[in-house]
Amino acid sequence: MHVIRVKLARRSYAIVVGNKIIRSLAKQFKELNLGNSAFIITNSLVKRKCAGELVKVLKKAGFNFKIRVIPDTEKSKSIATLSAVIRDLAKFDLKKHTFIIALGGGVVGDLSGLVASIYKRGIPYIQIPTTLLAQVDSAIGGKTAVDLKEGKNLIGAFYQPRLVFSDVALLKSLNLKQLRAGLAEVIKYGIIKDSRLFAYLEKNSKSILRLKPAALEHIVNASSKIKADIVGQDEKEEKGLRTVLNFGHTLGHAIEAAGGFNKYNHGEAVSLGMLIALDISQRMGLVGDGLKKRVGELIRKAGLPVEIKGIALKNIINAFYRDKKFRGSENRLVLIAGLGKAKVVENVPLAIIEEAVKRLFKQREVDNA
Ligand SMILES: NC(=O)c1ccc[n+]([C@@H]2O[C@H](COP(=O)([O-])OP(=O)(O)OC[C@H]3O[C@@H](n4cnc5c(N)ncnc54)[C@H](O)[C@@H]3O)[C@@H](O)[C@H]2O)c1
Ligand SMILES: [Zn+2]
Repeated sequence: MHVIRVKLARRSYAIVVGNKIIRSLAKQFKELNLGNSAFIITNSLVKRKCAGELVKVLKKAGFNFKIRVIPDTEKSKSIATLSAVIRDLAKFDLKKHTFIIALGGGVVGDLSGLVASIYKRGIPYIQIPTTLLAQVDSAIGGKTAVDLKEGKNLIGAFYQPRLVFSDVALLKSLNLKQLRAGLAEVIKYGIIKDSRLFAYLEKNSKSILRLKPAALEHIVNASSKIKADIVGQDEKEEKGLRTVLNFGHTLGHAIEAAGGFNKYNHGEAVSLGMLIALDISQRMGLVGDGLKKRVGELIRKAGLPVEIKGIALKNIINAFYRDKKFRGSENRLVLIAGLGKAKVVENVPLAIIEEAVKRLFKQREVDNA
């Protein structure tokens, strides 16, 4: 079992990573002084696959708890679900001091964190992430949110959990698509911060795709350390340090949007975005071409895409221009100046960006674009 600290003064907390560690949970809850009433938010699939052991542990330790199931869809990150869940929580919480347990992927985690942040002006919550993406990314760092019709994550708060409990045994029921979505983020961490993690992925991709617990534990631990460290230094993305986590995401979002959010899922689009950002880094003289080849091979081994198909080039470029996150400058990209070394660069010449996107198309598709 590994324990990583997210260092945020009075709001510091532990990320616990291990295999088959659920039994130690009751003890940790008691140490954190959370009281003995837990409101568990999950969805029906996760409840079936992952809640059994947790329920046993809570019963045995004499906790009082309720399980609130939300629909298994991104649409659960909505104001309607938020208010319905809060009303059920209020009914359960009569005369009690309740803490929330988010048991699930990023959807459950983002919604539960927001519930915890606003109910009674804030009550404690625990993240028990059950997807690889949630274990390495969304459960850590206190970004909570629901979506609006006008855009994703538009309503949210920074509100840190009291504990992130990542048991890789919970990942054994994940399908390959969900596993790969998380793996894309792990590859990202290797490229921006950790050449040893990157080399580990190159060597162990088969074990990871076969859900071998030791390999999963290794990558969740290494990734959590990186995210914890960045969040500890730049909790609210004010110092530009958290920005490096967007590596592959600016162009990735443009690809996701241009594909109508169904051609490429987030992890696939980020993989393509990382390859484009590496190509740009190379054209700008920051790295040689060896790294892009290495990353391409790893992404391919992970079963993630290395070329763009079935989307028009101009739609990607338009979606990229529509992204308004650049704060004054023409654009802002996370580039790479060597394996493990990210660099934020503003005002990258648009011709270089367009050329890099174009090169990732299958040749035949460029001709038709
Ligand atoms: N807060 C943050 O910092 C942050 C960071 C990245 C992403 N996100 C958000 O996270 C969400 C995506 O998260 P996600 O990829 O975990 O999606 P998700 O929560 O929708 O989970 C993906 C699917 O896996 C299923 N699932 C979950 N655990 C399982 C298990 N153990 N076995 C089998 N199936 C399981 C879920 O039911 C769901 O169908 C998005 O809403 C995104 O905006 C937030
Ligand atoms: Zn991402």
